[in-house]
Amino acid sequence: MTSITLNNGVSIPQIGYGVFQIPPDDAQRMTVAALAAGYRHIDTAAGYQNEEGVGRGVRDSGLPREDVFVTTKLWNADQGYDNALRAFEASRSRLALDYIDLYLIHFPVPQRRLYAETWRALEKLYADGMVRAIGVSNFKFPYLDRLLATADVVPAVHQIEVHPTYQQAELEALTRSHGIEIEAYSPLGRGADLESETITDIATRLDVTAAQVIIKWHLQRGRIVLPKSASVARLAVNLDTDGFELTEADLTAIETLEQGLRTGEDIETFDVPA
Ligand SMILES: NC(=O)c1ccc[n+]([C@@H]2O[C@H](COP(=O)([O-])OP(=O)(O)OC[C@H]3O[C@@H](n4cnc5c(N)ncnc54)[C@H](OP(=O)(O)O)[C@@H]3O)[C@@H](O)[C@H]2O)c1
Repeated sequence: MTSITLNNGVSIPQIGYGVFQIPPDDAQRMTVAALAAGYRHIDTAAGYQNEEGVGRGVRDSGLPREDVFVTTKLWNADQGYDNALRAFEASRSRLALDYIDLYLIHFPVPQRRLYAETWRALEKLYADGMVRAIGVSNFKFPYLDRLLATADVVPAVHQIEVHPTYQQAELEALTRSHGIEIEAYSPLGRGADLESETITDIATRLDVTAAQVIIKWHLQRGRIVLPKSASVARLAVNLDTDGFELTEADLTAIETLEQGLRTGEDIETFDVPA
């Protein structure tokens, strides 16, 4: 499994198993299955309501704690300095882990203007050794820029939606120009991008699946990539990306598929659902 070194020297496995929409009752079993298949990086969030199962899965895997990279995220309702510290402790206790590898602000929620204050709480958790790295998610320009203006610690990662039909190339370039790694979420476009003829043609030529082609595109472009599958067979296939290479022509052909097809929330208006 290839790893990337973050801007604070911490190493992160480049493919992570995303557990968004894995029901709480399945999270333990699926985490164990992912770790057995070879994943060493799990991406959860307080908002996914499956942290307890993920934590149990990490412990049940039999792997040493330090061999598994665990990310969780601060939910929107918990922004603010004191709230964020409390929310972190609640996540850590649901996961039942001594420390978290990576803690992210899930959404900026710009209308509340609390993200800079929230970031100070993450900086404290980092300084106290409760987390090995801190980062943000869904911080479009100018929110990332504003955060950087007051931050003492530059985020290690920026987790954003990136897939062939929604690439956010400008935001990726801006993020990287600050030494922040990109984590691509919904990397398969929630499955929709697997149907693209450009992708399936490349897959046929290389005798791999469409999902493997898209995941390889993310890897070769240097992103951390977080595919989700509720199927043990498919999550294993998604990890199996070593035996082939995409050509530069393949990579640029995939980049022509941009269509602005966002599948996730509208960052400008997304707050706390009723
Ligand atoms: N920070 C954020 O705001 C945010 C938002 C969204 C997602 N995320 C993260 O990103 C992760 C992945 O995102 P996502 O779940 O939205 O989308 P995704 O990984 O792009 O797509 C998942 C979909 O693709 C299907 N799929 C996966 N592997 C496949 C394969 N080999 N062949 C055919 N179909 C396949 C899955 O079906 P099956 O399950 O049936 O295999 C599922 O329907 C999440 O779990 C989460 O960790 C973060």
